Amino acid sequence: MMKNIDKFMRSFIVDLGEESVVSFFDKISQQGKKLRSKLIIEIAKTSKQSLALASVVEMIHIASLLHDDVIDNALTRRSANSFNADFGDKTAIMMGDILYSCAFSKLASLPQSVAVFVSNAVANLSVGELLDVELSKSFNTNKEKYFKMIYCKTASLIEASAYSAAILEGFEGEDFALYGKNLGLAFQIIDDVLDITSNDKILGKPALHDFKEGKVTLPYLYMYEGCKDKDKKHMMSLYKKSLNSYECAWIKDKMSEFRVVERCIKEAKNFGDKALDAIEKYNMDGLKNIIRQMIERDF
Ligand code: FPP
Ligand code: MG
Repeated sequence: MMKNIDKFMRSFIVDLGEESVVSFFDKISQQGKKLRSKLIIEIAKTSKQSLALASVVEMIHIASLLHDDVIDNALTRRSANSFNADFGDKTAIMMGDILYSCAFSKLASLPQSVAVFVSNAVANLSVGELLDVELSKSFNTNKEKYFKMIYCKTASLIEASAYSAAILEGFEGEDFALYGKNLGLAFQIIDDVLDITSNDKILGKPALHDFKEGKVTLPYLYMYEGCKDKDKKHMMSLYKKSLNSYECAWIKDKMSEFRVVERCIKEAKNFGDKALDAIEKYNMDGLKNIIRQMIERDF
């Protein structure tokens, strides 16, 4: 199934009629989890329209990651070289623009409410990335801002995927939008926890990387809340620094003292439960499994 989506995306690119673009497209890693596509196919089953929707959403997602790696100056993605590392920032930005606008031209042939919801999600995605960049400039201790940012950056496109698939299938779009939004929030919290608990072999980036990048994610917010003034100061002095093994151990010690990881996982599970409540009446086991797998994943 996921191979079909890759084929669909490739055919959209081939239709542009420029061989060099096809060859760059083939170099973009297709190794992602395709969470959004799985969700769409789970809700809307397999049809020409659902595959087109899944391809549109994946192209938007890939475009956003191409741009994100340029913005983050990231040289690796999923344990391999990032596209910008291999071909430079300019090509990465333009390939992002091509994928993104190609997705929009295909989106126009889907039902209007789908086109509106997905376009709006892309606007939110961009706002989310902007908030992420702004919040990473100085130590953010405001949890509301963190949640707004992860809603925009991550949950909005997952929300739009679930909504759109439901519309194609004739379900109540708002129920599935709520499912998707809460799934997306849980997903990002688990991502932020994995930055603490995982290691570079599994994740493709070193642990505690977010803090060095200026990202005060939920685990760090809980840690900061728990710290006494002196430790708060020490924590802030480590912000955006390359941490040595003592400093990493100190952060991890404080996190276990305040049971930060457990609390974050509980919070992600709460969002997972809210997601399931929203679609309870449809009794769809596949959507329950998506929530479970997403919370239990280790990468
Ligand atoms: C990854 O965040 C980034 C996103 C999920 C959204 C990025 C959105 C944009 C760049 C704007 C939209 C642009 C287009 C063309 C649609 P991260 O850096 O926290 O995650 P990472 O560890 O996977 O890099
Ligand atoms: Mg990034």
